[in-house]
Amino acid sequence: MADRIKLGMVGGGNDAFIGGVHRIASRIDDRFELVAGALSSTPEKSQASGAALGLPRIYDDYKQMAQREARRKDGIDAVSIVTPNHVHYAAAREFLKRGIHVICDKPLTSTLADAKKLVKAAEDSDALFILTHNYTGYPMVRQAREMVANGDIGTIRVVQVEYPQDWLTIEQDFKQAEWRTDPARSGAGGSTGDIGTHAFNLACFVTGLEVDSLAADLEAFVPGRQVDDNGHVMLRFEGGAKGMLWCSQVAPGNENALRIRVYGDKGGLEWAQEDPNCLWHTPFGEPKRLITRNGAGAGEAAARVSRIPPGHPEGYLEGFANIYTEAATAIASVKAGEAVPQDVLYPTIHDGLKGVQFVSACVKSSARNAAWVKLDH
Ligand SMILES: NC(=O)c1ccc[n+]([C@@H]2O[C@H](COP(=O)([O-])OP(=O)(O)OC[C@H]3O[C@@H](n4cnc5c(N)ncnc54)[C@H](O)[C@@H]3O)[C@@H](O)[C@H]2O)c1
Repeated sequence: MADRIKLGMVGGGNDAFIGGVHRIASRIDDRFELVAGALSSTPEKSQASGAALGLPRIYDDYKQMAQREARRKDGIDAVSIVTPNHVHYAAAREFLKRGIHVICDKPLTSTLADAKKLVKAAEDSDALFILTHNYTGYPMVRQAREMVANGDIGTIRVVQVEYPQDWLTIEQDFKQAEWRTDPARSGAGGSTGDIGTHAFNLACFVTGLEVDSLAADLEAFVPGRQVDDNGHVMLRFEGGAKGMLWCSQVAPGNENALRIRVYGDKGGLEWAQEDPNCLWHTPFGEPKRLITRNGAGAGEAAARVSRIPPGHPEGYLEGFANIYTEAATAIASVKAGEAVPQDVLYPTIHDGLKGVQFVSACVKSSARNAAWVKLDH
């Protein structure tokens, strides 16, 4: 076993949501060790949150952490950024400029201008940038991507992707809702930025296609809400495929109902996040086939990111861990002066930029009565 990668964390303090998921995901394959943190927005809360986790090195803020860790011989190799969206840019830049690898949650940034500046900062850095669009780490999503690439469903014509939730159906005052509905911290998109970016990324990841242009009808249904809580988006892919993306946080009965259906001229594929170990393959003119994780018909791409036999469920935490483990493999390769293996498929900063471009184009299109807007690649 290679040495564990020394990890720091920005955000993820007491009462935070996704920081805890990142900590679990980083440990599932035992490739990381969390040694430092600036876990919250004030020095007092950062100290208290770090102490609660028993972290060896606790900092008042991310800038102090980046400066001091970069000076240590045993400083962190990588940092996970799990703050609200508006902090991603400034925090990531501090670590990139010191050559510390960045693992950052989505959306990449809260503004398109910051996303472009961050791409430049990453290109100027020797460090890697990994974006946790975690759904790309699920084995059956890898299977779907492999089947599309193998031509199993032929030339893609239609992509239907949706991510409905219901938790913002009414006004909520807890912290996760509060910053997500504030455009200064969330960005100009609400549901589009928070979950639409996941759906958009999944559609591109599975199909291998780029979106050329979109037309969006966004709505803030809850009175007084300043960002969209529902979005209907038509997609035109390069090469002629057509798609529809629905994201909603006001659809009662839906928890995390991310689902994708892809149809080509030979057949279709269907995957749903809440039943993640299954993938339906519908070859035209033949009975539907159910492919299960590690079961008959599942291929190499899925097997590589599966841990346990079929029938024992793997899910959200394992999918997240697959992104972390691929990050670990890539970081270890860079440390050894070797090329990153080609089967490492974690989302990059360029995927992050595309996500922020998607949000920006949706907002622009919707403001123009759902006019078609070209994505600026
Ligand atoms: N990939 C996923 O499935 C997924 C799921 C949920 C959230 N997210 C993303 O993760 C990020 C965090 O979301 P969350 O739901 O955990 O939010 P949260 O409000 O639960 O937690 C945010 C944490 O960041 C801390 N923080 C705020 N400003 C900070 C600063 N300047 N320095 C250090 N810490 C700071 C807060 O104190 C808190 O501990 C968001 O970008 C969100 O979009 C991704």
